[in-house]
Amino acid sequence: MASNDAPLFKVEDLHVSVEDTEILKGVDLVVNHGEVHALMGPNGSGKSTLANSIMGHPRYKVTKGKVLFNGTNILSLTPDKRAQLGLFLAFQYPVGIPGVVMGNFMRAAMKARRGEDVPVREFRKLLDETLDLLKMDPSFVRRYVNEGFSGGEKKRAEVLQMAMLKPEMAVLDETDSGLDIDALKIVAEGINALRGPDLGVLVITHYQRILDHITPDKVHILFDGRIVKTGGPELVHELEERGYDWITNVEGTDASDAGAEAVGAGVGAGKEKA
Ligand SMILES: Nc1ncnc2c1ncn2[C@@H]1O[C@H](COP(=O)(O)OP(=O)(O)OP(=O)(O)O)[C@@H](O)[C@H]1O
Ligand SMILES: [Mg+2]
Repeated sequence: MASNDAPLFKVEDLHVSVEDTEILKGVDLVVNHGEVHALMGPNGSGKSTLANSIMGHPRYKVTKGKVLFNGTNILSLTPDKRAQLGLFLAFQYPVGIPGVVMGNFMRAAMKARRGEDVPVREFRKLLDETLDLLKMDPSFVRRYVNEGFSGGEKKRAEVLQMAMLKPEMAVLDETDSGLDIDALKIVAEGINALRGPDLGVLVITHYQRILDHITPDKVHILFDGRIVKTGGPELVHELEERGYDWITNVEGTDASDAGAEAVGAGVGAGKEKA
């Protein structure tokens, strides 16, 4: 951890384009050590774009702004360097890696993160403990990464990796999607078990249910590439009741035209194009 007083994680006026279309139009966000923030917003508002840009996906072009991790701008770093520093992204759609066994994959990832080999016994112990915590079958680690995993298994595999890699800042992109009620509780418990003064978490979600288990310190609403509202956990309940309309119609966002389509796809929203 850096010795300065910089926040753990800071996104500053971030603008991101995909294939010449500007998706993020000036995002600002600060997550301090020990905090859990939730990021919500309608389909297509740019949540995954933000997650992928934070991790350095080459398809997402940062045209302006900064992403500071412990005070250092990480935008020029490759994704593996970002991971080494302690950033972690759980993907919305984890991809399969045929031929690569989960256990070997995780050992290699841990080695990369630490910059040195992880002794087999230590690895085994941590793996067993984590599988236990997440109530995952040990046979899991002998399978190819995400190959033939059910939707819920893929999400659990992401949390397993997070638990093993012990990041300082984790971005979880809809890790709750596709989980049944029991799995959701287990995954939430897993995340809560990792929660601590050194870890920051950004949970991207559409649903209140995971946030009932992982109470966020702050909740942000992303709409049409901008954070248009920030509040406490009560904001989640308000959204469940009222949808996004009341937020996306205010505060000088040009929500009423550019993003009407996106709003229509969001939670409980049904706004007509003006
Ligand atoms: N790789 C890409 N190629 C083309 N367009 C993209 C790409 N990634 C994102 N976009 C576009 O950027 C916009 C924001 O997408 P993004 O996936 O960030 O939304 P989201 O908020 O995560 O939505 P959801 O809630 O459905 O996951 C969408 O219009 C999407 O089509
Ligand atoms: Mg997404």
